[in-house]
Amino acid sequence: MGEGSSTLEILDFGPAPSDFRAELVDGLGRDPKSIPSKYFYDEQGSALFDRICQLEEYYPTRTELAILREHAGAMAARLGPECLLVEYGSGSSIKTRLLLEALEEPAGYVPVDISREHLARSAGVLDARHPGLEVLPVCADYTGDYSLPQPSGAVRRVGIYFPGSTIGNFTPPQAREFLAHTAEVSGESGGLLIGVDLKKDRELLERAYDDAEGVTAAFNKNVLTRANREVGSDFDLDAFRHVALYDEKEGRIEMHLESTRPQVVRVGSERFDLHAGERIHTENSYKYEVQEFGALASSAGYRPDAVWTDPDSLFSVHYLSVR
Ligand code: TRP
Repeated sequence: MGEGSSTLEILDFGPAPSDFRAELVDGLGRDPKSIPSKYFYDEQGSALFDRICQLEEYYPTRTELAILREHAGAMAARLGPECLLVEYGSGSSIKTRLLLEALEEPAGYVPVDISREHLARSAGVLDARHPGLEVLPVCADYTGDYSLPQPSGAVRRVGIYFPGSTIGNFTPPQAREFLAHTAEVSGESGGLLIGVDLKKDRELLERAYDDAEGVTAAFNKNVLTRANREVGSDFDLDAFRHVALYDEKEGRIEMHLESTRPQVVRVGSERFDLHAGERIHTENSYKYEVQEFGALASSAGYRPDAVWTDPDSLFSVHYLSVR
């Protein structure tokens, strides 16, 4: 356990454990076939994801970080003094640190994550690095019901931080519902600072999700390895290839696992036939124009107050306020 992590108490809302087998069988029984993307993130998947974030082709992570380096002061000014900063996904990342350092007398920092282990580790690291900051970790599914812990000092605003363009992994109607939920959590004076990847050239987008080294392919295929290990399925990893396509009409990158030959996959007693070229859909990553995202946020009850982008307009960070 990391330094300082043993002293942190986690407020636990006991997020329901998910049933991989049931969800796998359900997804493979659909037409088109799918596997829920939340199963990407076992230990191996999380390690591969960290490598994706460092790839030359994967521009979002470094671009969002550059925007933060440039504008953390302006973002912190929007959030204001005595802000209780709530981060969705337990970030001990450099982005979080930049933001926390820019905030004027933050009331506290609340990382919210569904993984207890991940949360304990990163909250511990953050706590050790920011002496004097009240760190109040919450173990919960942030799309569901949970309540915020009360720091010892005054809170002028609850500011939710949701970096990484994870919002893009929801469909737009789901994103709207999610945004409305965040507004409810943060309350009347609340604010949301959110990273949103922008629409751009197809080639650049597809390269970001299909790198030359094959790290994203390995990340995508790892869900099959995990299924074989945890659920006892018999996916032949050599009979699937990674496919990443930009659907311009939908404004989204789609990731698929494509069967390279006709085959049968078994999950316990269940059998699933795949024809050559048949795809299993594993994730969407929606891209937005700045105005388009502002309109979506407005329809969820937010007022778009400020937006920061990089000089090449690859990525955006929006500040939205509840009123
Ligand atoms: N939400 C980010 C994105 O869509 C990160 C991410 C989620 C991702 N799943 C991924 C990146 C799969 C690459 C591959 O870009």
